[in-house]
Amino acid sequence: MRRPPPPGRRRRHPARRALLALLSAGALIATLVAPASPATAGTTLGTSAAEKGRYFGAAVAAQRLSDSQYVTILNREFNSVVAENEMKWDATEPQQGVFTFGNADRIVNHAQSRGMSVRGHTLLWHAQQPGWAQNMSGSALRNAAINHVSRVAGNYRGKIHSWDVVNEAFADGGGGARRDSNLQRTGNDWIEAAFRAARAADPGAKLCYNDYNTDGVNAKSTAVYNMVRDFRARGVPIDCVGFQSHLGTTLPGDYQANLQRFADLGVDVQITELDVAQGGSQATIYAGVTRACLAVARCTGITVWGVRDSDSWRSDNPLLFDRSGNKKAAYTATLDALNAGGSGDPGPIDTSAWYVLVNRNSGKALDLYNRDSADGARITQWSRNDGANQQWQFVDSGGGYYRVKSRHSGKVLDVYNFSTADGAAIVQWSDHNGTNQQFRVADSGGYVRLVSRQSAKVVEVQGASTADGANIVQYADWNGANQQWQLVRVG
Ligand code: G3I
Repeated sequence: MRRPPPPGRRRRHPARRALLALLSAGALIATLVAPASPATAGTTLGTSAAEKGRYFGAAVAAQRLSDSQYVTILNREFNSVVAENEMKWDATEPQQGVFTFGNADRIVNHAQSRGMSVRGHTLLWHAQQPGWAQNMSGSALRNAAINHVSRVAGNYRGKIHSWDVVNEAFADGGGGARRDSNLQRTGNDWIEAAFRAARAADPGAKLCYNDYNTDGVNAKSTAVYNMVRDFRARGVPIDCVGFQSHLGTTLPGDYQANLQRFADLGVDVQITELDVAQGGSQATIYAGVTRACLAVARCTGITVWGVRDSDSWRSDNPLLFDRSGNKKAAYTATLDALNAGGSGDPGPIDTSAWYVLVNRNSGKALDLYNRDSADGARITQWSRNDGANQQWQFVDSGGGYYRVKSRHSGKVLDVYNFSTADGAAIVQWSDHNGTNQQFRVADSGGYVRLVSRQSAKVVEVQGASTADGANIVQYADWNGANQQWQLVRVG
C-alpha cells in the first residue's frame, strides 16, 4: 500500500548536478582500498559457527557424561547443549509437585563450566508426560501444566538461552490442525498460556515453539506460521521457532525459504534436532541445512540430536561422528559449509560498525553523491575510496529490519516517496524510521541484498551499470549481481 510522506516532509526529485559532481567526486578517488581480509576458518563446529555469530550444539544424555570419548568430542566441537530427555515433564516432575532436577543439572553444570549455552527442552509436550499428568484433564491438567512451566522455567531462570516452551502441538498431514492431546483438550489457548507463564518465570530466555515435519513449506509448517503470526500480532510472547529437522534422504527445496518466512515474522529460527539418514546424500544434506541457516540472518544456531551414531535415538547412523567417535564425511561437509560462509559473509549485522557496500557486479561502492547533506540527495555508485560518504551503519528497527545511515550526513537510505515501483530512486532522507527507510539484509552467499520493508524490492545499481555516478534504485528481487553487495567493515 502506498503511504504518503509524513507531515512536514517536502519531496523533491533528486537533483542531477552531473557536471559539478563529476568534478568534485572525481577528486574523492584518492586510493582504492583492498577488501577486508577473510575471517579465519574455524577448526571445530562450535568455533566456526561462533565466527558467524551462531552456536552449534548437541543433544546430551546425562548418563553419557561419564563416557570420556563422548565428553572429549562434546567439549571440543560444541558450544551449546540441550538435554535429550532430562528436562522433560516425566523427568522433572515425576510426582505432582515433586521436582527433580539432578540429571538436568548435570548437563547444565557441564555446559556452564565450559561456557556453552543451554537450550531447554521441553516444558510442555503430549509425550513423555508423567503418569499422573497423563491421567488428568480439564482445568486440573491446565493448572498442573502451567504450574509445571512456571516451576521448571523458574528453576533455571537466567541459565537457559532458549526454551522449547511447547513441542509438537500440530498434527501431521494436510489439515493444518492442532494435534489432539490431553493438553489440547484443555482449550485451544493452552499454548499461549504456556508462553505467558514461561515469560513471567524467566524473562531472559528466548521462548520457542518447536516441531518436526515443518522443515519445508507445507500444511503443517503453514499452520505453525499462522499461529506465530497471530501470536506476534496479539503480543503473545514468542521469540523463536525450532525446526527439528529429523531428515531422511532429501532436503526440502524450500528449506531456506521456509526458515526465512518465519524470520520475516520477527522471530529467530533455530535448527533444533538435526539428524539425517545415512546414505549418499547425508553429507550434502548436512551442508545444505548449514548453508540455509547461515543464509538466514535470524537463524541463530544449529543443534544436532546426539554426538556419535551410537548415541542416536535412530538406528540409521544419522549423526556427524561414527560409533568409534571418528569424524564422518557429514562432519567435514558441515564444517566446510560453516567456514565457506566465507570472506564476504557478514554474519549478523554489527550495529556499531561502519561498512562500505561494494556492488558485486561493478566492484564500486554505494556512495552519497557529491557528499551532499540534503534530504533527497542522490545515492550512486562510485569507485571505492572509503570516504565518509561511502560508509554506512545499520541502525536496528526491530523485526529484522535496519535503516542504513550515512556516516557523512547522518541521514538514511530512503525509497523516494514511499514508491513501490521498479526503478524508484533510492535517496537519503532524515531518519524517521519509515517503512521506506527499513531494509532486511538477505543473504546471497557472501553478499547481501537490501530488501525494502515498504516495497519488498531490493536496492540495485540501475541497469547493471559499471560507471561512476550510476543511479541506485529499487527493483524486483531477482538476486542479480547488481543487486548484491559485499559488506566490508571499515570502522
Ligand atoms: O531410561 C529408560 C531405561 O531405564 C529403560 O530401560 C528403557 C526401556 O525402553 O527406556 C529408557 O528410557 C527411554 C529414553 O528415551 C532414554 O533412552 C525411553 O523409553 C524412550 O522413550 C526415550 O526416547 C526419547 C524420545 O524422545 C521419547 O519420545 C529419545 O531418547 C529422544 O531422543 C527423543 O527425542 C525426541 C525429542 O524430545 C522431540 N522430538 C523428537 C525426538 C526424537 O523422537
